[in-house]
Amino acid sequence: MKLIIDTDPGVDDALAIAIAVALPEISLLGLTTIFGNTFVPQSSRNARFLLDLFAADCPVAEGAALPWGAETYDPADNVHGPEGLGARADIPQIGQNTDEAAADFLVRLAQENAGELTICAIGPLTNIADALARDPGFARNVKELVIMGGALDQPGNITPFAEANLFHDAAAADAVFQSEMNIVMIGLNATLQTLLTPADLTDMARTAPKVGGFLEEIHDFYFGFYRSVGIMDGCPMHDATSLLACLWPERFKFTETGVRVIVDGDEIGQTIRDESRPNVRIALGVEADWAIQTAKNAVAQLH
Ligand code: BDR
Ligand code: CA
Repeated sequence: MKLIIDTDPGVDDALAIAIAVALPEISLLGLTTIFGNTFVPQSSRNARFLLDLFAADCPVAEGAALPWGAETYDPADNVHGPEGLGARADIPQIGQNTDEAAADFLVRLAQENAGELTICAIGPLTNIADALARDPGFARNVKELVIMGGALDQPGNITPFAEANLFHDAAAADAVFQSEMNIVMIGLNATLQTLLTPADLTDMARTAPKVGGFLEEIHDFYFGFYRSVGIMDGCPMHDATSLLACLWPERFKFTETGVRVIVDGDEIGQTIRDESRPNVRIALGVEADWAIQTAKNAVAQLH
């Protein structure tokens, strides 16, 4: 599978990228970066650092620094850490970003791999919406867009209504759901079922001391956030679950409906049904034990 990950690394993004590097089924054509868990320059620096740590080599194209129409953006560093990768403060700059901006990179790669490219978007959807605006053929050229985001008929995680990725650029997300892209939405309905525990990360550290040990270290901070809000001793495997859906949709249960994203007011970022929109496949559940075990098996390959 030819894959680009659009990402804001991010603790759970780091796990998703590690799995993508490890799985032989995936040919990783690039990472495009986006503001979200950090500012976008930090996202790009983290993406290049992670590729180096995972002994992978692919382009990193930097994307949007701000949500559509916004003049500022302020990441919440209590969730993923001050630099996005847990308590780490000393993340080196390794290599460089491509000269091409993320939206141009996405448009070009989609043209060059028309009908073959899957995009897994695990941050706010600004880059995807920018690519759609730039090239009328983009929606058709992309084989599938798998989104980590949204919550259908259930509460959000950043507000009572909204999931974080779609909340951070609701207008861009709504533009994506209006497009003719072939979209799979892996929202909280599925990702809250895949719970990673500290013991799972200890297993990863044992089977792959360098990569698994790093993932264990950065998840420690993420677990601390979830403990601090009294949710659980562990964390939902949001981004990696979406990555697994690119390859193994048969492990998920889906419904289909058009989707609208509320773009203002208290409910901004909420995903609601809209039958006038093109149908989207929305995951309602996943074989959670399988997902956790598949993630662990993949990381074990990066020893
Ligand atoms: C999403 O928001 C980010 O904090 C995570 O990396 C994930 O992509 C979960 O709502
Ligand atoms: Ca993310």
